Amino acid sequence: MDILLTAHNLQKNYGDYQAVRGVSLTLEAGRMLALMGPSGCGKSSLLLILGLLQPPDGGEYTSQGQNLLALDHRQQALFRQAFFGFVMQSCAMFSYSTVEENLEFPLIYAGMPRKQRQLRIAELLDSVNLSDKAQARSNLLSGGEQQRVAAARALVNRPKVLLADEPTGQLDSENTKRLMNYFRKACSEIALGAVIVTHDPSVADYCDVIYRLKDGQVVN
Ligand SMILES: Nc1ncnc2c1ncn2[C@@H]1O[C@H](COP(=O)(O)OP(=O)(O)OP(=O)(O)O)[C@@H](O)[C@H]1O
Ligand SMILES: [Mg+2]
Repeated sequence: MDILLTAHNLQKNYGDYQAVRGVSLTLEAGRMLALMGPSGCGKSSLLLILGLLQPPDGGEYTSQGQNLLALDHRQQALFRQAFFGFVMQSCAMFSYSTVEENLEFPLIYAGMPRKQRQLRIAELLDSVNLSDKAQARSNLLSGGEQQRVAAARALVNRPKVLLADEPTGQLDSENTKRLMNYFRKACSEIALGAVIVTHDPSVADYCDVIYRLKDGQVVN
C-alpha cells in the first residue's frame, strides 16, 4: 500500500493552551480514516495542520519522503492545491454564483476543456443528489445542500487526499449514506485517501480506521 501522509508527534499550541499534543498518524492510499472525539479535543486544529493551513509547533510531517514542513509558503500552496481537497466546517463558496459555477471555477483554473467540465460537473452533481440545483444560487441553498456542493467541489480536481471536517454534520441519514458511498467510491476508483472528522458513528463505520482524540491526544 502507498502511504500518502505520515505525521509524527504533531503539536499545536494556542498561547499557553496545548490543543494538539503529540499526534502521530499514517494515511494510506485508498483508505478512509475517521477522526472522532469530543468538541474542543483538537480535531479541526489537527486537520488544519494536515492540510498545511496552519503550521504545527512541533513534530514531523512527510508525504512520500518529502518533508512538508520544510516547504516555503509558495511550495506549500502548490502542494496543497495539487494534493488536497477540503471540506471545512463552514463551507466557503462563492455565494452569488450558481452551484454549477462553484464546481466549474476550479476546473477552469485547472485548464479542463469545456465539454469535459460539463461531463464532470454532471457526474458530481448526480453523486451528491443535486442535479436539479445546478442553476441555483449557492446562498439560496439549504445548509445541507451547501454542504453537499462543498463535498462535490472538494473532489472536483481528483485530489490525492480528502480532508473533511464534519462533512455530514447537516445531512439527513439518506444523504449521509449517499455522500459516504461517494467518498468510498473515490477511494477505490482514484485511490483517494481521506481523513474525516465526525461525531457520527454511522460515518465512522464507512472508515477503515478510527482515531479517537481526547485533550489533543490519540487515545485508542
Ligand atoms: N485559533 C485559535 N486560537 C485559540 N484557540 C483556539 C484556536 N483554534 C482552536 N482553539 C482552541 O483549541 C481547542 C481545540 O479546537 P478545535 O477547533 O481543534 O476543536 P475540535 O475538536 O475541532 O472541536 P469541535 O468538535 O467543536 O469542532 C479548543 O479549545 C479551541 O477553543
Ligand atoms: Mg472542529
